[in-house]
Amino acid sequence: MSQTVWITGGGDGIGRALALRLCNDGATVAISGRRDLALAEVVADAADRAGTVVAFPLDVTDRTAVAKTAEDIEKQIGSLDLVVFNAGTHQAMGACDFSAEVFEALFRVNVMGAVHGIETMLPRFRVRGNGHIAVVSSVAGYRGLPSAAAYGATKAALINMCEALKPELDAAGIGLSMINPGFVRTPLTDKNDFPMPFLMEPEDAADRIAEGLARGKFEISFPRRFIWWLKLGQCLPYALYFRLTRRLLQ
Ligand SMILES: NC(=O)c1ccc[n+]([C@@H]2O[C@H](COP(=O)([O-])OP(=O)(O)OC[C@H]3O[C@@H](n4cnc5c(N)ncnc54)[C@H](OP(=O)(O)O)[C@@H]3O)[C@@H](O)[C@H]2O)c1
Repeated sequence: MSQTVWITGGGDGIGRALALRLCNDGATVAISGRRDLALAEVVADAADRAGTVVAFPLDVTDRTAVAKTAEDIEKQIGSLDLVVFNAGTHQAMGACDFSAEVFEALFRVNVMGAVHGIETMLPRFRVRGNGHIAVVSSVAGYRGLPSAAAYGATKAALINMCEALKPELDAAGIGLSMINPGFVRTPLTDKNDFPMPFLMEPEDAADRIAEGLARGKFEISFPRRFIWWLKLGQCLPYALYFRLTRRLLQ
């Protein structure tokens, strides 16, 4: 049976590629984001594929609007099987430009955007005893990295939240996936002026995500070679870890 899916941040980058990939597989995909035009372009790109993409404009920082959009989506395309809370933004910030405004802005989109979606969908999935929630975090949430004091903190918060929810969701029959991409070529990373190791194309990222979701994996992280190094970094004692991250300042 074909899936009914909601992807936030579906107008660009990873969200767009995932919407089109799932549409190829025959899914009916609702996409959300603030810019109508970006969403409309994805809807047009999806024409003549096996499934359908439908646009539901939304700012995920608006809690009431998130709840209303979920209701509208389910009224229009049917009960959701899978929700992918992917909307996110990035701004570099370290000690020299430390700013509460940047911190708050990133938390409002990256963390509260996903939190609003989960708050809306959990009771619905709980009543049905099924459904799958996916949260797009990042490898930047594994450990603190220079210039990612705000972005990394948002992603670490999502990882911790998913780990906390997982046992209860298992017991409730609700799937949970935490997606931790490495570098993917998107409008978000196009702004980066530093070398991005193992940079992937969004279509390849979407394939990894779709495959991981189909297998019901909890952590979906890629590319594998990069993840190995980062997981190794997670095991390092602070003295050694800071010796490495100090080098990233140059
Ligand atoms: N690219 C990477 O290397 C990478 C690596 C790790 C994790 N990630 C994560 O993957 C996710 C997608 O990133 P991406 O690289 O595909 O970024 P992107 O190309 O910049 O796309 C981000 C999407 O989020 C939407 N968005 C931003 N703020 C929003 C808001 N307030 N309400 C609703 N939608 C909003 C944007 O649409 P509007 O502007 O129209 O709202 C856009 O469609 C993010 O969570 C990001 O942190 C990316």
